[in-house]
Amino acid sequence: MAATRELRGKVAIVTGASRGIGRAMSQAFASAGAQVVVASRTENEAPPDAPYAKYGSGTINDTARRIAEAGGEALPIPCDVTKTDDLRNLAERTIKHFGRIDIVVSNAGVDCESPVVNLEEELLDRCLTVNIRGPILLCKYVLPQMIKQKSGGSIFCITSGAATGYREGRVGYSMSKAALDRAYLSLASEVREHNIAVNVLSPGRVDTWMNRRGDWPGTEHIPMEQPESINEAAVWLAAQNASTFTGQRIERSEFGTNWGPGIPVSMT
Ligand SMILES: NC(=O)c1ccc[n+]([C@@H]2O[C@H](COP(=O)([O-])OP(=O)(O)OC[C@H]3O[C@@H](n4cnc5c(N)ncnc54)[C@H](OP(=O)(O)O)[C@@H]3O)[C@@H](O)[C@H]2O)c1
Repeated sequence: MAATRELRGKVAIVTGASRGIGRAMSQAFASAGAQVVVASRTENEAPPDAPYAKYGSGTINDTARRIAEAGGEALPIPCDVTKTDDLRNLAERTIKHFGRIDIVVSNAGVDCESPVVNLEEELLDRCLTVNIRGPILLCKYVLPQMIKQKSGGSIFCITSGAATGYREGRVGYSMSKAALDRAYLSLASEVREHNIAVNVLSPGRVDTWMNRRGDWPGTEHIPMEQPESINEAAVWLAAQNASTFTGQRIERSEFGTNWGPGIPVSMT
């Protein structure tokens, strides 16, 4: 367990927690003392021929087990973020089990790898549904509880450099992340009066299934990090509220230099 327990007494929800960046953040939150709801679709180990198996597959049960083995507390809840009922159930079961919601991370995301001339509608629809609709509907279902608690809270999403720059063959993905950024930054203003922080965190290039271990064309120049590189920044962000840090789009690599503990921030 981490030496600092700055999230003690808080309940966190992380989507896309079965592997990659979401699994790392879930473990980091638990180490910092939070009770963590780990949510995504995969409950049981993927078959060896699953597309991501060789990149280190994972399940929500496995993430919860890792947390328990390290002395933390986690609840795995199956959730497909494209399904409204699953998102509503995620909020309801969290409240029923832990009694509150303090931290919500919209991390689940999918790619949309195709030049526009070849773009299949089904691929685009799935990308927009997972990367934009899911994160907003998740907020719709968690916010009533967070507002009712009157103790502030922290919501953030995991965006991408593709939201602000060209990535070869990724127009649909770029569009989804740019829309997600705008949605969360607007939501920050909407819920500021409830002392709930809403921010947008860009992780950099991370060694996971999604970017095929750094194989995305046009990103070779960006240093590649392991999923755990996000932990310190994510834990600090999770501990914020609207009076300390909100409405910001921040880079993980700039944590501790441009933003973070002791660094003044403009929140106008
Ligand atoms: N890796 C990078 O370099 C990089 C860079 C910038 C941004 N990002 C962003 O970081 C986030 C995490 O990506 P990652 O790199 O860790 O990729 P990853 O290893 O592929 O993990 C993606 C996670 O999203 C979940 N997910 C996908 N579709 C879902 C759905 N319909 N419902 C619920 N969960 C779903 C997956 O779980 P199940 O399959 O179990 O549902 C998995 O846990 C994404 O939003 C991605 O856009 C990554």
